[in-house]
Amino acid sequence: MADDSSPQTDAYRAEVSARIADAADLAALDEIERSILGRKGELVLRKKSIGELPPEQRKAAGQALGALKATLTEAVEQRRSALEAGQQGAQEAAERIDLTELRPAERLGHLHLVTQAMRDLEDTFVAMGFEVYGGPELDTDWYNFEALNIPSWHPARSNFDTLFVDVGETETTMLRPHTSNLQIHLMEERTPPIYAVMPGRTYRRDTADATHMPVFHQIEALVVDRHITFGDLAGTIDAFTKAFFGEDRTTRLRPSYFPFTEPSAEFDVSTPSGDWLELGGCGMVHPNVFRNVGIDPDEWSGFAFGFGIDRLAKERHGVEDLRELFTNDVRFLSQF
Ligand code: PHE
Repeated sequence: MADDSSPQTDAYRAEVSARIADAADLAALDEIERSILGRKGELVLRKKSIGELPPEQRKAAGQALGALKATLTEAVEQRRSALEAGQQGAQEAAERIDLTELRPAERLGHLHLVTQAMRDLEDTFVAMGFEVYGGPELDTDWYNFEALNIPSWHPARSNFDTLFVDVGETETTMLRPHTSNLQIHLMEERTPPIYAVMPGRTYRRDTADATHMPVFHQIEALVVDRHITFGDLAGTIDAFTKAFFGEDRTTRLRPSYFPFTEPSAEFDVSTPSGDWLELGGCGMVHPNVFRNVGIDPDEWSGFAFGFGIDRLAKERHGVEDLRELFTNDVRFLSQF
């Protein structure tokens, strides 16, 4: 006959508690729990035996049994949490991915030299108060030529070696040969004042060689405001050159011709070796261009310039052959 508040009960409690604490895994613990606290478990048997005690002892025995049950239930829960935590830890350890496996110093990449140049140019112009604008690479006759004062009969069209796409009427849709199409998109969309730069990919029917690629990149700049002069154009080109290349650099303009600017010029940047780097074209926005986009040329004036980014990246890093930039040979790229 069990007496639930006796030293016997203490021994039983200690023995069962030890078994619970020693349960090796969740399955073993479930088994122990069932044998002690289950419907046919040891505590149920003990409870039945209380009925055989003298009536005056039953109450105390019942209370002691209740306390024992609470203690053991608590011990089971504690052990269960500990085992579950251990199991989770083991799972985490098994599933752990070692992200240090690739040695970063050897394997980390970097932005492409053209992307780096493009972003640096954007930063430079944004610091000067310009916004960055973008638009379509596949575009129509109107945006690439017509609105830029290059009608279909104009000989300048042939200078662009345009890659036409077989959409609609012949030679009406093309991969843009310059970013100047974005001048038109921007002026159609907005009203002046406008201070924007527009970087992007451009295409021409060129054979790849050391200084040409059929796919290349340009950045276009457009300013439209009241009383903008050629002096503003020259000053902006010079300020940008000094900010981007360094204070010791200077620029020069040479008279040139573009149908969408008048007057027009080409601009060069001085190099440390004393040579001039021919960068791009520029000029005052032609009044016909303003009329084509519904801007009154008597009220507004402006300038535009555009130049190639790839050649600039090439010069900047002393790369001999433009094609090297695009072969994606890791041995070449990892030098920068
Ligand atoms: N779009 C011209 C080119 O690709 C460059 C240019 C831009 C010239 C803006 C004048 C003004 O050659």
